[in-house]
Amino acid sequence: MTNFPKRIAVLGSTGSIGRQTLDVIRNFPDYFQVVALAARSNVSLLAQQAQEFHPTLVTCFADTPELEAKARALLPDVLIGEQGLLAAATHPDVDIVVAATSGLIGLRPTLAAIGAGKAIALANKETLVMAGHLVMNAARRANVPLLPVDSEHSAIWQSLRGENPRDIQHLLLTASGGPFRQATLEELQSVTVEQALAHPTWRMGPKITIDSSTLMNKGLEVIEAHWLFDVPYERIKVVVQPESIIHSMVEFVDGSIKMQASLPSMHLPIMNALGYPERLPTTGSGLIRELSWKELGILHFDDLDLARFPCFRLATEAGRRGGTYPCALVGADEEAVELFLHGEISYLGIAELIEGVLELHQSIEQPDVATTIEACAWARRTVRDLWRKRVTA
Ligand SMILES: NC(=O)c1ccc[n+]([C@@H]2O[C@H](COP(=O)([O-])OP(=O)(O)OC[C@H]3O[C@@H](n4cnc5c(N)ncnc54)[C@H](OP(=O)(O)O)[C@@H]3O)[C@@H](O)[C@H]2O)c1
Repeated sequence: MTNFPKRIAVLGSTGSIGRQTLDVIRNFPDYFQVVALAARSNVSLLAQQAQEFHPTLVTCFADTPELEAKARALLPDVLIGEQGLLAAATHPDVDIVVAATSGLIGLRPTLAAIGAGKAIALANKETLVMAGHLVMNAARRANVPLLPVDSEHSAIWQSLRGENPRDIQHLLLTASGGPFRQATLEELQSVTVEQALAHPTWRMGPKITIDSSTLMNKGLEVIEAHWLFDVPYERIKVVVQPESIIHSMVEFVDGSIKMQASLPSMHLPIMNALGYPERLPTTGSGLIRELSWKELGILHFDDLDLARFPCFRLATEAGRRGGTYPCALVGADEEAVELFLHGEISYLGIAELIEGVLELHQSIEQPDVATTIEACAWARRTVRDLWRKRVTA
C-alpha cells in the first residue's frame, strides 16, 4: 500500500495539464496535497488556485514588471523568476513534481527535482526531447521514477507492466492524425490559425495543439518514447487511430500486442502517474466517462502520410541524428509556431523554417545543460533571421 497523501508540486499549474492535475487532486483530497504551485503569467488564476489549495509555496515567473507587480499584489509571499520554479521543484515537503510547463523552461527544474530525489510526473516532453541523455542518466543515478503523463507514453508504460523489456518487438504510438488528417497539400496551404487550433479529439494548450496538427507532436513523442523506454528508433512505429481511443500499443516478440484504451482524457494518465503504483477509483468522481463500445461501434486505423506532414520526418530525423539536433528542433518549432499563431507565416511555413534551421545547424555531441539551452536559443534566433530575410526578399 502506497503512502497517501502524496505531496505534490505543480509546475505550470495554470496550463491545460496543470489545471487537469488540480482537478484530480480536488477529486482525491485524501490521496494528494498541494505543496507548491508555479506559473508564468496567469496571475489571477494562480491566486485563485492558491486560495483553494493552500500551498506552502507559490511562484510566478512573471517576466515583465507589470506581471511581477500584479503577482506581488495578489500573492504577498510569491517567489518570482526561475529561482521560484527551482524552489518549487526541490521543496523538502514535495514527493512528486508534476513537470507541466511548456517548452524549454522545464529542463533545469526537472533536473533539480531529480537531484533532490523527487518522483517526476512528466508532461513536458521538450525536456526529454532536448536532454534525454541528461534526464535519464540523472534519474537512474538518483533512482527516481519518471512517471509518464503523455497519454501515449502512459499507455505504453501500462502495457509494459509485468513484462520483460527484452521482449519488446515494437512500440506502436497512436496518432489521431489531427484536424488535417484528410486534407490535401493544396488545402494545407491556406490553413488558418483558427482551423489549426480546432483539434478533433483533444483540448490542449495552443503550442501543442498546433504541433498535433502538423504531427510535430508525434515526432517529439517518438523521441520521448525512445528515451523513456530505451527502445531504438527503428522499433518505434506510428499508427493513425482517429478516434483517440487506443492510446498506444506494445508488440512483443511472440506477436502478441497489448494496448490501453479509454475515452480521450488527460485526467486518466495524470491519475495513473500520481497514483502509481495504485489505480485510483474513479467511480462517482465525474472525471472519467465510461466507454460505451456499442456507441463507439468502429475503430479505424491507418498509416501516416509523411509527404503531407514534413514536421514528423524532421523531428524523427533530428532524434536519430542526436547531439543538439533535437534542441535545435524544439527551439525552431517553438519560434515558428509562435510566428504562425501571430499570423506572420503560413501553416506550411512552419516546416519550411524548421527545415531551414536544421540544415544550418552544427550539432554538438553529448550536450550539457548550457549547450542544450544555447542550441535551442540559437534555433529561435535563426528562425527569426530566416523569416526576416524571406519577408524582405
Ligand atoms: N495539454 C495536453 O493535453 C498535453 C498532453 C501531453 C503533453 N503535454 C505537454 O505538457 C506541457 C504543458 O502543456 P499544456 O498544454 O498544459 O501547455 P499550456 O496550456 O500552454 O500551459 C503551460 C503552463 O506552463 C506555464 N509556464 C510557461 N512558462 C513558464 C515559466 N517560465 N515559469 C513557470 N511556468 C511557466 C504556464 O503559465 P501561465 O499560463 O501562467 O503563463 C502554464 O501554466 C507541454 O510540454 C506539452 O507538450 C500536454
